[in-house]
Amino acid sequence: MVERKRVLSGMRPTGRLHLGNLHGALDNWVQLQRHYDCFYFVADWHALTTDYASPGQIEASTWEMVLDWLSVGLDPARSTLFVQSSVTEHAELYLLLGMITPLPWLERNPTYKEQQQQLTQKDLATYGFLGYPVLQAADIIIYKAHGVPVGKDQLPHVEMTREIARRFNFMYEKEVFPVPDPLLTEVPVLPGTDGRKMSKSYGNCIYITEPEDVIRDKVARMMTDPHRVRRNDPGDPELSPVFAYHKIYSSPSEIEEVARGCRTASIGCVDCKKILTRNILRVLAPIREKRLDLEGRMDWVREQMRLGTDAARRQARETMADVREAIGLGKPL
Ligand code: TRP
Repeated sequence: MVERKRVLSGMRPTGRLHLGNLHGALDNWVQLQRHYDCFYFVADWHALTTDYASPGQIEASTWEMVLDWLSVGLDPARSTLFVQSSVTEHAELYLLLGMITPLPWLERNPTYKEQQQQLTQKDLATYGFLGYPVLQAADIIIYKAHGVPVGKDQLPHVEMTREIARRFNFMYEKEVFPVPDPLLTEVPVLPGTDGRKMSKSYGNCIYITEPEDVIRDKVARMMTDPHRVRRNDPGDPELSPVFAYHKIYSSPSEIEEVARGCRTASIGCVDCKKILTRNILRVLAPIREKRLDLEGRMDWVREQMRLGTDAARRQARETMADVREAIGLGKPL
C-alpha cells in the first residue's frame, strides 16, 4: 500500500462546539480521515497564550471538545487524536525554532496586532503570545505533516510555518522537514442566530449537541430578512441567516421552494423555519445520541486520547532525534 500523506490540524479548547465549528472545520476533518494519515490535537498551550491569567476552564473545555470530536465522527481507530501539552516535545522544538526565527517575522504577523487590538481586556504583550506562530510551526512540522487543513484566518500562520521549515532545512543543510501546504476548505460561512459571525462571545451560537427544544427555540428566534416586516411582504432569502442554514441542511427542492416562497411571500418565516428545524434535528439527533453514549464511557474516551497521545509522542521523538542530529547537538546523555 502506498503511504498515505499526513495531515495535521489543531483546535484550541473552547468547550462545546457549535455549528460553525462543525461545518467550518470538523466535517472536513472527518472526511479527510478516509484518505490521509490524520493527526488532530487539542491546542491547549495555544489557549494558554491568551488565557494564561485564568486557565481554569482549559482542562474541562478540552474534554468537552474531545467528546464533540468523537460524537461527529473523528475516529481514534483511524486518526491520531492527542493533547498538545502531553507531548512536551512540541516545546523542545518550539525552543529550537525560536533560535532561528527572525523577530520581524513575528512582529509582522497580522493576527498578532489584530488580536491585541480586539482582546483589549487581556494583556497580550507577552513573549508567549508573540511566539504563537512558532509554537504552531512546531506543532505542524514535528509530525512532518504535508497538509494543514485550516480556515482562511490561519493562512498567515501556515505561511510562517513554511518559511520556518525552509529556513531550518537550509541552515542545517538537511531536508528534515517537508514544507507543508495549507488545505483551505471553502466552506459556507454559517452566520449566528443574529446574522453576525457565529461566535461564543456574541452569544449567537447553536451548539452541536444542544437539546431539541433549545434548537427549536433558537431557530424560532433566529433573525430573518429585516426588510420583510409583514407576512405579506416579499423577502430576499439571501438576507436571511435562516436561508444560509437551509443551504446546508435542506434538500435542493426544499431550498428552491423556500427561496421562491420567500421572494413571493407565499411562505411565511414561521413555516420556513419549521422546515429548517426538522432538517437540523434530523442531522444532529445521531450526534447527540453518540455524545450521550460517550459521556457514560469517559474512561474509554480518556484511554483513546492517551493512546493517541502516546502514538503522537513516538512520532515527535523520532523527529526530535533528526533535529538534534541536524543541528549537531549530539544524542541526549
Ligand atoms: N491557531 C489555530 C487556531 O486558532 C490552532 C492551532 C494550533 C493549529 N496549532 C495548530 C492549527 C497547528 C493547525 C495546525 O485555530
